[in-house]
Amino acid sequence: MRSIILTAILSVICTPLLALDQKTDSRSAIKKELAKPVVRGGIVFKSYCAMCHGERGDGLARAAKLHGVTNLAIKPNSQKYYDKIIRKGGAAVGRSEFMPLWEEELSEEQINDVVSYLMVVGDAMYRGEVVFKTNCILCHGLKGNGKGRASVLYDPPPADLTHSDKNDQYKRMIITYGGEAMGRSPAMPIWGEELSKQEIEDVITYISTLLVKD
Ligand code: HEC
Ligand code: HEC
Repeated sequence: MRSIILTAILSVICTPLLALDQKTDSRSAIKKELAKPVVRGGIVFKSYCAMCHGERGDGLARAAKLHGVTNLAIKPNSQKYYDKIIRKGGAAVGRSEFMPLWEEELSEEQINDVVSYLMVVGDAMYRGEVVFKTNCILCHGLKGNGKGRASVLYDPPPADLTHSDKNDQYKRMIITYGGEAMGRSPAMPIWGEELSKQEIEDVITYISTLLVKD
């Protein structure tokens, strides 16, 4: 619950920041378009779907047991299929009626966003991008260069992840246990309680794509 509230608060803070930062993002136009709905879709998913499907759509949630269904994992499928089952509910596509219909509860935008999110959750790099943009950009910046909007508040400043000389094991440790445990600034938060092991692996995969060689 705490992480849902935190994600919701962060999303309110980050959405306008993302819009600002995105003007200077160097990646392709298509990816820029895709990134925002996916990030928003991840927030919709955590708020409305995770209680049954699990935080990562892997079906490992407590409510799944209540419905007597043991596996609520969302399998890779077409955009059309996701769109239909989400709008019309499970019964409409010959699946369990415990999958609610969402077209009355969610806005058009929320439905499109959560479909975009489901299209990318099968990909570790994209999953990591969602984790990064939801939790890290305020300090490390959209490009990971350490120049996020809140970076001025910290001394030492948030690390420039585009020029990090640390290996994955070190990153895993500092992300999981926080800066202080590693003899660094306590301003680098402890993420081991907020993020799952999988999310931490995914964000490590993503930040490795931000490295700039020069
Ligand atoms: C009350 C529990 C519950 C909630 C909340 C819920 N679902 Fe479902 N969902 C189910 C059940 C049950 C199924 C059907 C499983 C089956 O028949 O095999 C399902 C099936 C699905 C499927 C098809 C999975 C597949 O691999 O065929 C998708 C996609 C899906 N849900 C997306 C969502 C999204 C997106 C949300 C949030 C907006 C959501 N669900 C919220 C219970 C839920
Ligand atoms: C509140 C600000 C803040 C947030 C949010 C934050 N960090 Fe940090 N992070 C820092 C600071 C400050 C440092 C540098 C600490 C130092 O140099 O003593 C740091 C350092 C790091 C380092 C070490 C890099 C290196 O090369 O030494 C990694 C990796 C890192 N952060 C990853 C993340 C990830 C991933 C997230 C999101 C899940 C995140 N951080 C969120 C402030 C933050």
